[in-house]
Amino acid sequence: MRVTIFGTGYVGLVTGTCLADVGHDVVCVDIDEVKVEGLNRGVVPIFEPGLEPMVKANHAAGRLRFTTDAEAAIAHGDILFIAVGTPPDEDGSADLRYVLEVARTIGRHLSRPAVVVDKSTVPVGTADKVRATIAAELEARGVDVDFSVASNPEFLKEGDAVNDCMRPDRIVIGATDMAAVEKLKRLYAPFNRNHERIVVMDVRSAELTKYAANAMLATKISFMNEIANIAERVGADVEMVRQGIGSDPRIGWHFIYPGAGYGGSCFPKDVQALARTAQQHGMDPRLLNAVESVNEHQKKHLFELIERHYGGKLKGKTFAVWGLAFKPNTDDMREASSRRLLQQLWDAGAQVRAYDPEARHEAQRIFGERDDLVLCESANGALVGADALVVVTEWKPFRSPDFPRIRQAVADAVIFDGRNLYHPDEVEAAGIAYYGIGRGRSVAR
Ligand code: UDX
Repeated sequence: MRVTIFGTGYVGLVTGTCLADVGHDVVCVDIDEVKVEGLNRGVVPIFEPGLEPMVKANHAAGRLRFTTDAEAAIAHGDILFIAVGTPPDEDGSADLRYVLEVARTIGRHLSRPAVVVDKSTVPVGTADKVRATIAAELEARGVDVDFSVASNPEFLKEGDAVNDCMRPDRIVIGATDMAAVEKLKRLYAPFNRNHERIVVMDVRSAELTKYAANAMLATKISFMNEIANIAERVGADVEMVRQGIGSDPRIGWHFIYPGAGYGGSCFPKDVQALARTAQQHGMDPRLLNAVESVNEHQKKHLFELIERHYGGKLKGKTFAVWGLAFKPNTDDMREASSRRLLQQLWDAGAQVRAYDPEARHEAQRIFGERDDLVLCESANGALVGADALVVVTEWKPFRSPDFPRIRQAVADAVIFDGRNLYHPDEVEAAGIAYYGIGRGRSVAR
């Protein structure tokens, strides 16, 4: 099938590439000429495992093209996806400027029947706005073209996005126009193997489904962080508690890891936007507000542990920081807990030697040159001349470090483990003081 995708960001690029990989004829449009020119040479601007070779192979096979020419791209597609960004407004609600700009562009050039699909995470009711925007442009041109607007949210995790796209748990299609549903079913047939994964519903329910999924996951994390904070106070170990509850299938093992708070491009933004939607409809979103406020507190918690250990005297101390990305397998630092921590350390007069396997350039871009930051080439390099080690992102290479070596390198012999990667006994056996999240034992010491 012939597909057009607006936006070559995370969602658009992964979706377009996966659709091309199963044989569809895909054109991706972006307004960023440099990006488009790079993609046509096989340069993938984001770090996502497995994506670059797929982009290159499908581009070489002629099934995946990139352009800035919206008019030609609109003429190409039977299905037109909108996958542009929806950044938060000042008040936390989703900014629809880019989505509606694409809708206007579609309305200005559409000349044959098409299904327009919202893939961006957009508030309930956006599909109606997109439909009205396109209709107004068509009317202004005096043309009558048959089109419908569907919602088809994505559930891609950064770092595992290609797999999520190729092997989805479910494919949510929000549409009332049956011809559109059939087209989308045909498009996704190659991904709908072994058992039925397509769930068809009305447009508004599909829009809400996306927010409900992310808000539920964020709620699980904030819940566990709250349990961790209780564990810390009562002298219990949240890691034991986690193991004690996860095997209950009603609770499950996923997303019950306490830590330095959730970050990324989705959870913080989507929880806020859903809360805003509730407020706009006269409802007080008590639970969502609590989920957010627990997370805000949690992002500062690691620093509190550090501050307490040093009795507030951090001036002149140097901290090795392992991990800057908001989670492993990505170079993305949007809303990353590391950003809050680094700022707090700097405000307290401390120096930082940071290492991240992928986010070095992103950190460079965000922080620029500063005297109190050294971006290191290796985990061990970050330890050189440091007083303490802080682990912020659970990258695999950080999981089993050489503790005696850390003991030697780190002057104050202390580890602050923001992701509970280590067993306190193992660290302490090496002569290093250990602080984790919600590990009451070590705090009581
Ligand atoms: C998320 C959703 O998982 C995905 O389905 C949706 O489409 C987009 O948002 P993503 O933001 O890529 O994906 O990352 P995810 O792996 O969900 O992690 C989000 C944050 O939660 C990270 O900062 C992570 O460290 C944190 N997290 C996750 C925890 O603190 N504890 C956990 O148990 C799980």
